Amino acid sequence: MTMTAEDTDRHPPDAYLRGPYASIHTETTTRDLPVLAGELPSDLEGLFVRNGSNPAFDPPGHYHWFDGDGMVHGVHFGGGTATYRNRWVRTAGLEADLDAGRARLRGILEPPDFTAAGGPFKDTGNTDVVHHAGRLYALWWLSGAAHELDPTTLETIGVSDFGGTLPVTMNAHPKVDPSTGEMVFTSYSMLPPYLHIGVVSPEGRVTHLEPIELPGPRLQHDLAITPRFTVLFDMSMMFDPELLAVGRTKVRFYRDLPTRIGVVPRHGTSSEVRWFEVEPFFMYHVINAHEEGDTVVLRGCRMADPLVGDPHNATTEVSTRRTIPHLGHLRLEPVLWEWRLDLATGLATERAIDDTVSEFPRINDLRMGTGAESSWSPTFADRPTLAFDGLVHHDLRDGTATVHRHPEGWLGNEAVFAPSSDPARTGERDGYLVTFVTEEATGTSEVHVFDANDLTLGPVARLAVTARVPLGYHTEWVPGAVSATNDDATPAPRS
Ligand SMILES: [Fe+2]
Repeated sequence: MTMTAEDTDRHPPDAYLRGPYASIHTETTTRDLPVLAGELPSDLEGLFVRNGSNPAFDPPGHYHWFDGDGMVHGVHFGGGTATYRNRWVRTAGLEADLDAGRARLRGILEPPDFTAAGGPFKDTGNTDVVHHAGRLYALWWLSGAAHELDPTTLETIGVSDFGGTLPVTMNAHPKVDPSTGEMVFTSYSMLPPYLHIGVVSPEGRVTHLEPIELPGPRLQHDLAITPRFTVLFDMSMMFDPELLAVGRTKVRFYRDLPTRIGVVPRHGTSSEVRWFEVEPFFMYHVINAHEEGDTVVLRGCRMADPLVGDPHNATTEVSTRRTIPHLGHLRLEPVLWEWRLDLATGLATERAIDDTVSEFPRINDLRMGTGAESSWSPTFADRPTLAFDGLVHHDLRDGTATVHRHPEGWLGNEAVFAPSSDPARTGERDGYLVTFVTEEATGTSEVHVFDANDLTLGPVARLAVTARVPLGYHTEWVPGAVSATNDDATPAPRS
């Protein structure tokens, strides 16, 4: 993904290494986080954990935000208290760097060396964090090892092959079906077969793994599930196949090439994929999918002009005149979109749900694959790098948006939905949104807890975090997970 001059003229090349993105280098554990305002809800019981990029060493070349070593930040809630921890995702690549005393591998903005042992890039496990069948995994956006973490201590246990049943990599963003307990995943590669779909049983074993035929390597990021189907993508942004044939990687957006959305039975094969052609786009994240009779309804954060420097899209402004953030070669202007894929007729229709620019959507995961009516996303700050200045709730039926802005000067992250632990509270919005926020000027971080029924109330609890939490990526909620009490926990300093 060699960077072009157009890519670098929007912000300094090291912008994603500094300020709110800068690494921290100490692992800490802090019990009894001070509650600064409000009070901890009694039905908030479990682990909130967020993954992100935290390079241990200065990069040896151009840095992309996605290159950094993984670090998870977690808060265990329960018994009226909260405990914070941050831990590196202890990958083989990080351990080798620590032994070498430097970062050994270049990142994705440099020409890849496919002859390097273990692949051209370091598998950092920095992207996603997912719990399934009582276990917690850190996963990588370029499809890598599933690094198992201890949900009590957040220490890295090691690479899991699911009891010897996973012979391929696992991509970020597997989806857990709340009804069956299955975890549906993809695995992708630069080499054929370019894509696999798989299913992990509730017992933690891979029970289905099939290659999916694609015309070439594709930038896979997310997938969707419904009770019967898995939804896959063959998007219109890809490596230029002619350059790839001579060993060069250059991402292009083919705006005349329809994107294909594939619908395949969860335990199906490549020949059973129904492909639907839709208007060209690139997308990182799905919101959800569900079935309405023979129609699969998919919602996600669609980008119609995803490339920086695209001659067909010279402007960098949207109608609101806000700055469009850039991340490497990507121009991030996603809006909420809906596709309806009719399996009876083979026809697809699509529409915008809302034109608010937002990404990193989350739903109540207990509605995964069925008709979620709500999503929550961080809102984009008006700046040239990706940062978030608030949260927005979307009613997915009519697009109604309700926004909460973080305090001036504070930046946020993806928020996870934490369902109430009260068995009497089972509504889709009966729970909390939990997120980290950091004041840019001081590096002070807090955990904010919101009532999911009403973002406009502002945080119902604000807790102090003793470490600075750099901006990061994906979050997870592990209901009932408890904190260890016999490790290096130290009480928080109190003023
Ligand atoms: Fe992602």
